[in-house]
Amino acid sequence: MIKAPVSAVSHVITVRPAKSEDVPLIFENIGYWAGQGKMLVRPMQNIFENLRDFFVAEIETPTGKEFAGNGALHILWGDIAEVRGLAVRPDIMTKGVGKKLVEACEAEARRIGIPTLFAWTYSVGFFEKCGFTLIDKSKDLHPRVWSECLRCPFFVGCNENGVAKRLEGIPIPHNLPEPPPAQVPPGIR
Ligand SMILES: CC(C)(COP(=O)(O)OP(=O)(O)OC[C@H]1O[C@@H](n2cnc3c(N)ncnc32)[C@H](O)[C@@H]1OP(=O)(O)O)[C@@H](O)C(=O)NCCC(=O)NCCS
Repeated sequence: MIKAPVSAVSHVITVRPAKSEDVPLIFENIGYWAGQGKMLVRPMQNIFENLRDFFVAEIETPTGKEFAGNGALHILWGDIAEVRGLAVRPDIMTKGVGKKLVEACEAEARRIGIPTLFAWTYSVGFFEKCGFTLIDKSKDLHPRVWSECLRCPFFVGCNENGVAKRLEGIPIPHNLPEPPPAQVPPGIR
């Protein structure tokens, strides 16, 4: 990954939908943070398959725009979407990149008419700064979030926090069907 010295970074941050050519940098960035135990590793194939979920943040440097981080909005049901794959380049953290990526996810949810955002995270404080609230994952999980959990290799003993944000002004779709119940695999109670 090409990195400008932090002092050379002007911190003008832009966010745009991801393109195919971004995938190697997204893969490397997520891989770095997965190695630090902050998020799940994501195979490159999975990133390509979900590329329309992804946004990329860029910063202005004296030599042009550089990759600064990635985040994704994944729709779970008609009333909820998950912010996932959120990772800021490690040398430019706390410069506002993460917040801009979450704002892009929120704008996309509003455009589509999804009234609630959800995320799993170890960085609750960051999400609180973005307007999210910690939820009680023993009782407040949407059934679709639960279904996704059952596919996670860290389901048993998971210590991530669930955070959610109700998007003001976006109504719950009037014709929303009930989501299918979560299917609990054998051996998990
Ligand atoms: C968590 C992460 C996305 C935050 O991105 P960032 O660009 O460093 O954060 P920002 O600069 O946009 O921070 C926005 C606000 O949150 C605060 N903040 C950032 N990280 C925080 C944390 N871990 N705990 C508490 N507050 C935090 C900032 O101080 C800032 O506050 P301010 O608005 O009062 O100035 C980034 O640190 C990261 O990629 N971490 C590793 C991967 C990860 O944990 N991803 C989340 C999985 S869902």
